[in-house]
Amino acid sequence: MTSPQIELEHVDKHYGHFHALKDINLEIGKGRFVALVGPSGCGKSTLLRSLAGLESITGGIMKIAGETMNGVPPRRRDVAMVFQSYALYPHMTVKENLTYSMRLKRKSREERDKAAKEVAEITGLGNLLDRYPRELSGGQRQRVAMGRAIIRHPKAFLFDEPLSNLDAALRVHMRKEIRALHDRLGATSVYVTHDQVEAMTMADHVVVMREGVIEQAGAPLDLYDHPANRFVAGFIGSPAMNFVEATTTEAGDAVVLEGFDGAVLPLGIKLAPGRRVVAGLRPEHLLLGAPDKSAIRIGVGVVEFTGAASYLSSAGEPELTVFHAGRTEVRPGEAVGLTIAPQHVHLFDPETGRRVEG
Ligand SMILES: Nc1ncnc2c1ncn2[C@@H]1O[C@H](COP(=O)(O)OP(=O)(O)O)[C@@H](O)[C@H]1O
Ligand SMILES: [Mg+2]
Repeated sequence: MTSPQIELEHVDKHYGHFHALKDINLEIGKGRFVALVGPSGCGKSTLLRSLAGLESITGGIMKIAGETMNGVPPRRRDVAMVFQSYALYPHMTVKENLTYSMRLKRKSREERDKAAKEVAEITGLGNLLDRYPRELSGGQRQRVAMGRAIIRHPKAFLFDEPLSNLDAALRVHMRKEIRALHDRLGATSVYVTHDQVEAMTMADHVVVMREGVIEQAGAPLDLYDHPANRFVAGFIGSPAMNFVEATTTEAGDAVVLEGFDGAVLPLGIKLAPGRRVVAGLRPEHLLLGAPDKSAIRIGVGVVEFTGAASYLSSAGEPELTVFHAGRTEVRPGEAVGLTIAPQHVHLFDPETGRRVEG
């Protein structure tokens, strides 16, 4: 087995008394695309900047390509960062921006021109080499920023929310472009984003962070199917999972939901009787049906249409959100029934938030 390209062992980072990264352990294999995702302030940028050497860690070990990086200055780490702000030199043309790192290394003009042409080809900047950043669109500037990283043949690409400045359509497009580039270059990429859809669609491996801690790491659909705790369950998936307090029945093979007239949901597993749990129900797993034939009855509060889908919210507490593919005739004020398959009922411990399994 080849050794991982990036290894983090018990990494800690303090800013004074503030503990920004808490015992981070992570291995990233060569050629992998890993997303670090979590709410604003959870430590994603701190982790990425520590990898790049822009921050020093206060505990643990960081390795890149098998070499310990603690104390190694950024320019010797051989990683390339791509930021949201592009950080292009405004007084330099695209070509000069792309080849700036080569000029610092005193590469010849011929070598620089050749490399610029190659990278421009890869990033689709071929006919823009003589333009200045101000003459480029946001997407083109982002490509220059990536081209500048590519030209250095780094051991890893580190992306910090590179698409946040782009409009929604361009973001979706650039998402695919970055992933395709990664594949074509056989690169190792660490990609920071607060957007779980971006993380899920781009990465092979998603690392969910909260308050300086890794909450769960795994393949995108594993996180969706088996969230390890209530935080990950609520963070991955859109609209977010519904949470309802519940108690297991005498037989332990079903739960009684609180606040829905004694609605009972069968489970695929068996638990202790009378156990208090939190049931997690994804909006897309709640199926609309007739009130008298369904487990859960709700009064409809709001119905929203996007054309492709309908979103219903219940009027009462706790509020439930339902995702219905396509259109519905249901209108606010009506009563509807909801069913959910046993295997789609997630359970969490009310105190620890941990996933409960049979
Ligand atoms: N230089 C600093 N000094 C003190 N606290 C900092 C510094 N940089 C970041 N932090 C704090 O560390 C936490 C994580 O920040 P950051 O890694 O930027 O979060 P994210 O990128 O996930 O939004 C935040 O609470 C932030 O306020
Ligand atoms: Mg950040």
